[in-house]
Amino acid sequence: MNVRDELDTRHMSRALELAGRGLWSTDPNPRVGCVIADGEHVIAEGWHERAGGPHAEAVALGLAGVAARGATAYVTLEPCCHQGRTPPCADTLIAAGVRRVCYAIRDPNPRVSGGGAARLAAAGIEVASGQLAAEARALNAGFLSRMERGRPWLRVKLAASLDGRTALANGQSRWITGDAARADVQRLRARSSAVMTGSATVLADDPRLALRLPETTRQPLRVVLDTRLRIAPSAHIVAPPGRLLVLTASTDVARSDALEAAGACVERIPAGPDGLDLVAVMQHLAGLEVNELQLESGPTLAGAFLRAQLVDELVLYFAPTLLGTDAQPLIQLSGVASMIGRLEFSISDLCRVGCDMRVALRPVQG
Ligand SMILES: NC(=O)c1ccc[n+]([C@@H]2O[C@H](COP(=O)([O-])OP(=O)(O)OC[C@H]3O[C@@H](n4cnc5c(N)ncnc54)[C@H](OP(=O)(O)O)[C@@H]3O)[C@@H](O)[C@H]2O)c1
Repeated sequence: MNVRDELDTRHMSRALELAGRGLWSTDPNPRVGCVIADGEHVIAEGWHERAGGPHAEAVALGLAGVAARGATAYVTLEPCCHQGRTPPCADTLIAAGVRRVCYAIRDPNPRVSGGGAARLAAAGIEVASGQLAAEARALNAGFLSRMERGRPWLRVKLAASLDGRTALANGQSRWITGDAARADVQRLRARSSAVMTGSATVLADDPRLALRLPETTRQPLRVVLDTRLRIAPSAHIVAPPGRLLVLTASTDVARSDALEAAGACVERIPAGPDGLDLVAVMQHLAGLEVNELQLESGPTLAGAFLRAQLVDELVLYFAPTLLGTDAQPLIQLSGVASMIGRLEFSISDLCRVGCDMRVALRPVQG
């Protein structure tokens, strides 16, 4: 790596660190960081904090003032070129007189998608891209998924015993894992646009699926897949904090009205063979600007989403206990008759959380 590449990587790495500060707050916008530097010297830094607020480039350029003239701007996402709730960042960079712009990844938003880079280049600014692109993609996996695939990034979280059991035969599952694992789940919820579960879990556990972190006031949207509108208006999940969206195929007006009167929003989704059409569910949520979606259901929905190849990540918490063969499985999955038909995963992370283990996995597409 030459000296300039090394410097670019160092400043981009810092810009990514700054972008990460928006992990819990920028939704539905991407997390973006910016560093204005002259060689090794950092002139100013900025990050995007929340939708409607100034973009990372505007914050950093505002702090840099005239010192930005002739400098290099490092941005984790291609600068925008459209007038949104804030002015186009490409124009702000041009007006500030920067000499060079390095961005990690192209913004797939159709309103940008190369347009920001083209506008900078047309103004005579040197443009480079691709530094720490994998890290930048990982930070905004949800936003990129919504823009590129028209569906949210889906993380399935499950807590299980060592023998892969998620509830006793009678449905009881509280609590398999310890306090530290459950606090860890809170942090995953904090970065999610929405937390989703199935009607059966609401009926069995009556969960709130609320975010209880004092560091954030944002509540992810809560979503229940309830094909036949089985959940009661008195269920905990219907009550605040945050909004509840019930997705259903039912046309039962009385049940729908009762849920809405209790504060839920009920929307129709086409039915599939086993409940709701899960592709339609994902498209519907993307239309609501859901970037990262966390499924906290039982084994039935987890299995259905896996079979539909809609899962991007599995996060499993394993407690050092055994619940035995009468207990419920990790995933409801049948029909794997040969090794060729098995579902495969690669481990992306493995660690101890309190007295439990956490494994993060990505499906290997066969
Ligand atoms: N250990 C853990 O991490 C954990 C987490 C959550 C729950 N649990 C436990 O899991 C148990 C409940 O699990 P579960 O597997 O019965 O329920 P689930 O996966 O939470 O929900 C399944 C329900 O989702 C609905 N659904 C809608 N569309 C579907 C589709 N396309 N495919 C399949 N289902 C669809 C169906 O009900 P409708 O026909 O009503 O729509 C179905 O019965 C409880 O005992 C609970 O305590 C454990």
